[in-house]
Amino acid sequence: MDLQYKPAMPADKTKGIALIGAGEIVEACHLPAYRLAGFKVVGIYDQDSTRSERLAEQFEIGKTYRSLDELLSDPSVQVVDLAVPAKAQPALVKQASAAGKHLLCQKPLAETYEEALEIEAVCREAGIKAAVNQQMRWSPAIQASHTIIQRGWLGELLQATIAVNVRQDFANWSWLRETPTLEFMYHSIHYIDSIRYLFGDPECIFADGARFPGQSCAGETRTLLHMKLPGEARGLIQDNHNHIAGSDDWYATYRFEGTEGIVKGTNGSLYNYPIGREDTLSFFSKRIRSDYWFTPSLEGKWFPHAFMGTMGELMRAIEEDREPINSVKDNLKTLQIVFGAYRSISEDRPVYLAEFEGM
Ligand SMILES: NC(=O)c1ccc[n+]([C@@H]2O[C@H](COP(=O)([O-])OP(=O)(O)OC[C@H]3O[C@@H](n4cnc5c(N)ncnc54)[C@H](O)[C@@H]3O)[C@@H](O)[C@H]2O)c1
Repeated sequence: MDLQYKPAMPADKTKGIALIGAGEIVEACHLPAYRLAGFKVVGIYDQDSTRSERLAEQFEIGKTYRSLDELLSDPSVQVVDLAVPAKAQPALVKQASAAGKHLLCQKPLAETYEEALEIEAVCREAGIKAAVNQQMRWSPAIQASHTIIQRGWLGELLQATIAVNVRQDFANWSWLRETPTLEFMYHSIHYIDSIRYLFGDPECIFADGARFPGQSCAGETRTLLHMKLPGEARGLIQDNHNHIAGSDDWYATYRFEGTEGIVKGTNGSLYNYPIGREDTLSFFSKRIRSDYWFTPSLEGKWFPHAFMGTMGELMRAIEEDREPINSVKDNLKTLQIVFGAYRSISEDRPVYLAEFEGM
Protein backbone atom coordinates (compact mmCIF):
# COMPACT_ATOMS: atom_id res chain seq x y z
CA MET A 1 0.00 0.00 0.00
CA ASP A 2 2.07 2.88 -1.31
CA LEU A 3 0.63 6.08 0.13
CA GLN A 4 2.88 8.19 -2.12
CA TYR A 5 3.62 10.72 0.58
CA LYS A 6 7.21 11.63 -0.23
CA PRO A 7 7.75 14.98 -1.97
CA ALA A 8 7.95 14.79 -5.77
CA MET A 9 11.26 16.05 -7.11
CA PRO A 10 12.10 18.07 -10.22
CA ALA A 11 13.94 16.26 -13.02
CA ASP A 12 16.61 18.96 -12.96
CA LYS A 13 18.07 19.71 -9.53
CA THR A 14 20.77 22.00 -10.78
CA LYS A 15 18.87 25.30 -10.58
CA GLY A 16 20.86 27.66 -8.37
CA ILE A 17 19.22 28.64 -5.08
CA ALA A 18 20.29 31.65 -3.00
CA LEU A 19 18.94 32.20 0.49
CA ILE A 20 18.08 35.54 2.04
CA GLY A 21 18.12 35.10 5.81
CA ALA A 22 20.45 32.83 7.77
CA GLY A 23 18.42 32.36 10.93
CA GLU A 24 17.03 29.50 12.94
CA ILE A 25 14.70 28.02 10.32
CA VAL A 26 17.33 28.04 7.59
CA GLU A 27 19.78 26.19 9.81
CA ALA A 28 17.23 23.70 11.18
CA CYS A 29 15.21 23.04 8.03
CA HIS A 30 15.91 24.76 4.70
CA LEU A 31 19.54 23.74 4.38
CA PRO A 32 19.21 20.22 5.86
CA ALA A 33 16.23 19.54 3.56
CA TYR A 34 18.01 20.86 0.45
CA ARG A 35 20.99 18.70 1.31
CA LEU A 36 18.71 15.66 1.59
CA ALA A 37 17.03 16.54 -1.72
CA GLY A 38 20.31 17.22 -3.54
CA PHE A 39 19.35 20.80 -4.46
CA LYS A 40 22.08 23.22 -5.46
CA VAL A 41 22.53 26.11 -3.00
CA VAL A 42 24.88 28.63 -4.58
CA GLY A 43 24.89 31.42 -2.00
CA ILE A 44 23.46 33.00 1.13
CA TYR A 45 22.88 36.56 2.34
CA ASP A 46 21.92 37.94 5.75
CA GLN A 47 22.06 41.54 6.90
CA ASP A 48 24.01 40.09 9.83
CA SER A 49 27.00 38.65 7.96
CA THR A 50 28.23 36.64 10.95
CA ARG A 51 25.10 34.50 10.58
CA SER A 52 25.46 33.91 6.84
CA GLU A 53 29.17 33.16 7.18
CA ARG A 54 28.52 30.64 9.93
CA LEU A 55 25.91 28.75 7.90
CA ALA A 56 28.00 28.96 4.72
CA GLU A 57 30.80 27.20 6.52
CA GLN A 58 28.53 24.66 8.20
CA PHE A 59 26.74 23.71 4.96
CA GLU A 60 29.63 24.27 2.54
CA ILE A 61 27.91 27.05 0.58
CA GLY A 62 30.22 28.65 -1.98
CA LYS A 63 29.20 32.31 -1.74
CA THR A 64 28.33 34.67 1.10
CA TYR A 65 26.94 37.84 -0.45
CA ARG A 66 27.80 41.23 1.07
CA SER A 67 24.60 42.87 -0.20
CA LEU A 68 21.23 42.08 -1.69
CA ASP A 69 22.31 43.64 -4.99
CA GLU A 70 25.29 41.30 -5.14
CA LEU A 71 22.96 38.30 -4.73
CA LEU A 72 20.44 39.56 -7.27
CA SER A 73 23.07 40.25 -9.90
CA ASP A 74 24.51 36.73 -9.63
CA PRO A 75 23.49 34.91 -12.86
CA SER A 76 23.95 31.52 -11.20
CA VAL A 77 20.93 32.28 -8.96
CA GLN A 78 17.61 31.22 -10.48
CA VAL A 79 15.58 30.81 -7.30
CA VAL A 80 15.63 33.13 -4.29
CA ASP A 81 14.55 31.52 -1.04
CA LEU A 82 13.31 34.06 1.52
CA ALA A 83 13.63 33.27 5.22
CA VAL A 84 13.27 36.62 6.94
CA PRO A 85 10.53 37.99 9.20
CA ALA A 86 7.34 38.84 7.27
CA LYS A 87 7.83 42.58 7.74
CA ALA A 88 10.95 42.47 5.55
CA GLN A 89 9.37 40.32 2.84
CA PRO A 90 7.40 42.78 0.63
CA ALA A 91 10.45 44.96 -0.12
CA LEU A 92 12.64 41.91 -0.84
CA VAL A 93 10.00 40.37 -3.14
CA LYS A 94 9.84 43.58 -5.18
CA GLN A 95 13.60 43.69 -5.70
CA ALA A 96 14.07 39.96 -6.36
CA SER A 97 11.15 39.68 -8.80
CA ALA A 98 12.35 42.80 -10.67
CA ALA A 99 15.66 40.97 -11.09
CA GLY A 100 13.73 38.06 -12.71
CA LYS A 101 14.42 35.54 -9.95
CA HIS A 102 11.82 32.88 -9.12
CA LEU A 103 10.79 33.08 -5.49
CA LEU A 104 10.05 30.84 -2.56
CA CYS A 105 8.51 33.30 -0.11
CA GLN A 106 8.36 32.64 3.60
CA LYS A 107 5.19 32.12 5.57
CA PRO A 108 3.41 34.20 6.65
CA LEU A 109 3.53 35.87 3.26
CA ALA A 110 2.71 39.24 4.80
CA GLU A 111 1.36 40.73 7.99
CA THR A 112 -1.50 42.54 6.23
CA TYR A 113 -3.79 41.29 3.49
CA GLU A 114 -3.10 44.41 1.42
CA GLU A 115 0.64 43.65 1.43
CA ALA A 116 -0.06 40.03 0.43
CA LEU A 117 -2.18 41.24 -2.51
CA GLU A 118 0.62 43.56 -3.53
CA ILE A 119 3.17 40.72 -3.42
CA GLU A 120 0.89 38.60 -5.62
CA ALA A 121 0.49 41.43 -8.15
CA VAL A 122 4.23 42.21 -8.19
CA CYS A 123 5.14 38.55 -8.85
CA ARG A 124 2.45 38.15 -11.52
CA GLU A 125 3.53 41.30 -13.35
CA ALA A 126 7.19 40.23 -13.20
CA GLY A 127 6.24 36.92 -14.87
CA ILE A 128 8.17 34.84 -12.35
CA LYS A 129 7.05 31.71 -10.49
CA ALA A 130 6.33 32.54 -6.88
CA ALA A 131 5.50 30.01 -4.18
CA VAL A 132 5.12 30.10 -0.41
CA ASN A 133 6.99 27.93 2.06
CA GLN A 134 3.75 26.66 3.61
CA GLN A 135 5.34 23.28 3.93
CA MET A 136 3.05 21.32 6.24
CA ARG A 137 1.17 20.14 3.14
CA TRP A 138 4.28 18.08 2.41
CA SER A 139 4.59 16.59 5.89
CA PRO A 140 4.32 12.80 5.72
CA ALA A 141 0.99 12.73 7.62
CA ILE A 142 -0.71 15.35 5.46
CA GLN A 143 0.59 13.97 2.14
CA ALA A 144 -0.45 10.43 3.09
CA SER A 145 -3.88 11.71 4.18
CA HIS A 146 -4.14 13.53 0.85
CA THR A 147 -3.50 10.28 -1.03
CA ILE A 148 -6.09 8.45 1.09
CA ILE A 149 -8.67 11.18 0.42
CA GLN A 150 -7.88 11.36 -3.30
CA ARG A 151 -8.38 7.59 -3.59
CA GLY A 152 -11.89 8.04 -2.20
CA TRP A 153 -11.22 5.92 0.89
CA LEU A 154 -12.88 8.43 3.25
CA GLY A 155 -15.98 8.83 1.06
CA GLU A 156 -17.71 12.19 1.46
CA LEU A 157 -15.54 14.39 3.66
CA LEU A 158 -17.17 15.48 6.90
CA GLN A 159 -14.72 16.55 9.60
CA ALA A 160 -11.14 17.83 9.79
CA THR A 161 -9.76 18.27 13.28
CA ILE A 162 -6.26 19.35 14.29
CA ALA A 163 -5.63 19.59 18.03
CA VAL A 164 -2.42 20.76 19.66
CA ASN A 165 -1.60 21.11 23.34
CA VAL A 166 2.13 21.61 23.99
CA ARG A 167 4.49 24.04 25.70
CA GLN A 168 6.31 26.43 23.38
CA ASP A 169 7.17 29.84 24.82
CA PHE A 170 8.66 31.21 21.58
CA ALA A 171 11.84 32.13 23.53
CA ASN A 172 14.06 31.79 20.44
CA TRP A 173 12.18 34.49 18.54
CA SER A 174 12.13 37.85 20.35
CA TRP A 175 10.28 39.46 17.43
CA LEU A 176 7.58 36.79 17.65
CA ARG A 177 7.08 37.43 21.33
CA GLU A 178 6.40 41.08 20.53
CA THR A 179 3.86 40.57 17.75
CA PRO A 180 0.23 41.21 18.73
CA THR A 181 -0.90 38.54 16.23
CA LEU A 182 0.94 35.36 17.13
CA GLU A 183 -0.76 31.99 17.05
CA PHE A 184 -3.00 32.13 13.96
CA MET A 185 -0.48 34.19 12.00
CA TYR A 186 2.63 32.17 12.78
CA HIS A 187 1.48 28.71 13.82
CA SER A 188 -2.08 27.65 13.05
CA ILE A 189 -1.53 29.09 9.58
CA HIS A 190 0.04 25.69 8.80
CA TYR A 191 -3.04 23.78 9.99
CA ILE A 192 -5.33 26.16 8.10
CA ASP A 193 -3.33 25.63 4.92
CA SER A 194 -3.28 21.85 5.34
CA ILE A 195 -7.02 21.61 5.94
CA ARG A 196 -7.65 23.76 2.85
CA TYR A 197 -5.36 21.46 0.87
CA LEU A 198 -7.27 18.37 1.96
CA PHE A 199 -10.87 19.59 2.24
CA GLY A 200 -11.11 22.76 0.10
CA ASP A 201 -11.79 26.34 1.10
CA PRO A 202 -14.21 27.26 3.86
CA GLU A 203 -17.09 29.56 3.17
CA CYS A 204 -17.03 31.03 6.64
CA ILE A 205 -15.00 30.86 9.85
CA PHE A 206 -15.41 31.70 13.53
CA ALA A 207 -12.35 32.21 15.71
CA ASP A 208 -11.38 32.86 19.31
CA GLY A 209 -7.96 33.69 20.71
CA ALA A 210 -6.87 33.90 24.33
CA ARG A 211 -3.75 34.24 26.47
CA PHE A 212 -2.23 32.40 29.42
CA PRO A 213 -2.03 34.45 32.64
CA GLY A 214 1.40 36.14 32.88
CA GLN A 215 2.58 34.91 29.45
CA SER A 216 5.65 36.60 27.98
CA CYS A 217 4.20 36.93 24.47
CA ALA A 218 2.06 39.88 23.43
CA GLY A 219 -0.17 37.87 21.08
CA GLU A 220 -2.70 35.07 21.49
CA THR A 221 -1.27 31.65 22.49
CA ARG A 222 -4.52 29.67 22.90
CA THR A 223 -6.85 29.51 19.92
CA LEU A 224 -9.95 27.88 18.51
CA LEU A 225 -10.97 28.05 14.87
CA HIS A 226 -14.22 26.69 13.48
CA MET A 227 -14.51 26.43 9.69
CA LYS A 228 -17.56 25.78 7.54
CA LEU A 229 -15.98 23.70 4.79
CA PRO A 230 -17.65 22.69 1.50
CA GLY A 231 -20.89 20.68 1.77
CA GLU A 232 -21.46 19.11 5.17
CA ALA A 233 -17.75 19.23 6.08
CA ARG A 234 -16.54 21.18 9.10
CA GLY A 235 -13.06 22.01 10.38
CA LEU A 236 -11.81 22.59 13.89
CA ILE A 237 -8.36 23.71 14.98
CA GLN A 238 -7.62 23.87 18.70
CA ASP A 239 -4.19 25.03 19.76
CA ASN A 240 -2.65 25.71 23.17
CA HIS A 241 1.04 26.54 23.58
CA ASN A 242 0.99 26.73 27.40
CA HIS A 243 0.70 23.12 28.52
CA ILE A 244 1.43 23.17 32.26
CA ALA A 245 2.65 19.58 32.74
CA GLY A 246 5.37 17.34 31.32
CA SER A 247 5.65 16.38 27.69
CA ASP A 248 4.21 12.92 28.30
CA ASP A 249 0.80 14.61 28.31
CA TRP A 250 1.39 16.82 25.25
CA TYR A 251 -0.49 16.07 22.06
CA ALA A 252 -0.44 17.22 18.46
CA THR A 253 -3.05 15.22 16.62
CA TYR A 254 -5.03 15.25 13.40
CA ARG A 255 -8.17 13.42 12.44
CA PHE A 256 -9.93 13.51 9.07
CA GLU A 257 -13.29 11.80 8.80
CA GLY A 258 -15.71 10.95 6.02
CA THR A 259 -18.78 8.80 5.42
CA GLU A 260 -16.58 5.80 4.53
CA GLY A 261 -13.40 6.16 6.52
CA ILE A 262 -11.21 7.87 9.09
CA VAL A 263 -7.53 8.80 9.06
CA LYS A 264 -5.88 9.90 12.27
CA GLY A 265 -2.45 10.33 13.82
CA THR A 266 0.12 12.68 15.30
CA ASN A 267 2.20 15.56 13.93
CA GLY A 268 5.53 14.40 15.32
CA SER A 269 7.43 17.67 14.99
CA LEU A 270 5.43 19.34 17.74
CA TYR A 271 6.59 16.91 20.41
CA ASN A 272 10.15 18.19 20.53
CA TYR A 273 10.34 21.07 18.03
CA PRO A 274 12.39 21.46 15.86
CA ILE A 275 13.99 18.01 16.29
CA GLY A 276 10.66 16.25 16.61
CA ARG A 277 9.84 12.70 15.69
CA GLU A 278 8.16 10.86 12.84
CA ASP A 279 4.47 11.48 12.19
CA THR A 280 2.14 8.60 12.94
CA LEU A 281 -0.89 7.59 10.89
CA SER A 282 -3.62 5.01 11.02
CA PHE A 283 -6.71 4.72 8.92
CA PHE A 284 -9.63 2.53 8.15
CA SER A 285 -12.00 2.57 5.23
CA LYS A 286 -15.21 0.65 4.72
CA ARG A 287 -14.19 0.66 1.04
CA ILE A 288 -11.22 -1.59 1.89
CA ARG A 289 -12.11 -3.47 5.11
CA SER A 290 -14.47 -2.24 7.79
CA ASP A 291 -12.83 -4.29 10.57
CA TYR A 292 -9.20 -3.26 10.19
CA TRP A 293 -7.08 -0.20 10.97
CA PHE A 294 -4.02 0.14 8.75
CA THR A 295 -1.03 1.61 10.58
CA PRO A 296 1.75 2.15 8.07
CA SER A 297 5.05 3.65 9.31
CA LEU A 298 5.90 6.99 7.77
CA GLU A 299 9.50 7.95 7.06
CA GLY A 300 10.62 11.54 7.42
CA LYS A 301 9.21 14.43 9.41
CA TRP A 302 7.33 17.69 8.92
CA PHE A 303 10.57 19.53 9.92
CA PRO A 304 12.82 19.37 7.90
CA HIS A 305 11.68 16.85 5.25
CA ALA A 306 8.58 18.77 4.14
CA PHE A 307 10.84 21.67 3.10
CA MET A 308 11.91 19.48 0.17
CA GLY A 309 8.27 19.58 -0.90
CA THR A 310 7.80 23.34 -1.08
CA MET A 311 11.06 23.97 -2.94
CA GLY A 312 10.60 20.81 -5.05
CA GLU A 313 7.12 21.93 -6.14
CA LEU A 314 8.41 25.39 -7.10
CA MET A 315 11.18 23.80 -9.18
CA ARG A 316 8.72 21.42 -10.83
CA ALA A 317 6.44 24.35 -11.66
CA ILE A 318 9.36 26.21 -13.26
CA GLU A 319 10.26 23.08 -15.23
CA GLU A 320 6.68 22.47 -16.39
CA ASP A 321 5.87 26.18 -16.84
CA ARG A 322 2.77 26.08 -14.63
CA GLU A 323 1.70 27.65 -11.36
CA PRO A 324 3.02 25.88 -8.25
CA ILE A 325 0.25 24.41 -6.09
CA ASN A 326 1.71 26.41 -3.20
CA SER A 327 1.64 29.59 -5.31
CA VAL A 328 1.47 33.03 -3.77
CA LYS A 329 -1.97 33.30 -5.36
CA ASP A 330 -3.18 30.12 -3.67
CA ASN A 331 -1.75 31.33 -0.38
CA LEU A 332 -4.04 34.38 -0.46
CA LYS A 333 -6.89 32.04 0.54
CA THR A 334 -4.92 30.76 3.53
CA LEU A 335 -4.30 34.37 4.50
CA GLN A 336 -7.98 35.25 4.13
CA ILE A 337 -8.64 32.69 6.84
CA VAL A 338 -5.81 34.02 9.05
CA PHE A 339 -6.88 37.66 8.73
CA GLY A 340 -10.52 36.56 8.90
CA ALA A 341 -9.72 34.87 12.23
CA TYR A 342 -8.44 38.16 13.68
CA ARG A 343 -11.47 39.99 12.29
CA SER A 344 -13.71 37.33 13.84
CA ILE A 345 -12.05 37.81 17.24
CA SER A 346 -12.16 41.59 17.19
CA GLU A 347 -15.74 41.78 15.90
CA ASP A 348 -16.95 38.66 17.75
CA ARG A 349 -18.75 37.21 14.73
CA PRO A 350 -18.43 34.65 11.92
CA VAL A 351 -16.45 36.00 8.97
CA TYR A 352 -17.20 35.02 5.35
CA LEU A 353 -14.18 34.72 3.06
CA ALA A 354 -16.23 36.53 0.42
CA GLU A 355 -15.61 39.66 2.51
CA PHE A 356 -12.03 39.62 1.18
CA GLU A 357 -12.94 39.34 -2.49
CA GLY A 358 -12.63 42.50 -4.55
CA MET A 359 -10.21 44.08 -2.10
N1 LIG B 1 8.02 27.68 7.15
C1 LIG B 1 8.03 27.45 8.45
O1 LIG B 1 7.47 26.49 8.94
C2 LIG B 1 8.72 28.40 9.35
C3 LIG B 1 9.16 28.00 10.63
C4 LIG B 1 9.84 28.93 11.43
C5 LIG B 1 10.00 30.22 10.96
N2 LIG B 1 9.50 30.58 9.74
C6 LIG B 1 9.59 31.93 9.23
O2 LIG B 1 10.92 32.14 8.77
C7 LIG B 1 11.27 33.49 8.97
C8 LIG B 1 12.60 33.52 9.72
O3 LIG B 1 12.45 32.81 10.93
P1 LIG B 1 13.71 32.40 11.80
O4 LIG B 1 13.19 31.52 12.86
O5 LIG B 1 14.80 31.90 10.94
O6 LIG B 1 14.09 33.82 12.42
P2 LIG B 1 15.52 34.33 12.91
O7 LIG B 1 15.21 35.57 13.67
O8 LIG B 1 16.29 33.24 13.54
O9 LIG B 1 16.27 34.71 11.53
C9 LIG B 1 15.86 35.74 10.67
C10 LIG B 1 17.11 36.22 9.93
O10 LIG B 1 16.70 37.15 8.92
C11 LIG B 1 17.69 38.17 8.86
N3 LIG B 1 17.08 39.34 8.21
C12 LIG B 1 16.04 40.08 8.66
N4 LIG B 1 15.73 41.04 7.75
C13 LIG B 1 16.59 40.89 6.72
C14 LIG B 1 16.77 41.57 5.49
N5 LIG B 1 15.99 42.59 5.14
N6 LIG B 1 17.76 41.15 4.67
C15 LIG B 1 18.56 40.11 5.01
N7 LIG B 1 18.44 39.44 6.17
C16 LIG B 1 17.47 39.81 7.01
C17 LIG B 1 18.10 38.39 10.32
O11 LIG B 1 19.35 39.02 10.41
C18 LIG B 1 18.12 36.95 10.83
O12 LIG B 1 19.38 36.34 10.69
C19 LIG B 1 10.08 34.13 9.70
O13 LIG B 1 9.25 34.78 8.78
C20 LIG B 1 9.34 32.97 10.28
O14 LIG B 1 7.94 33.20 10.35
C21 LIG B 1 8.89 29.69 8.94
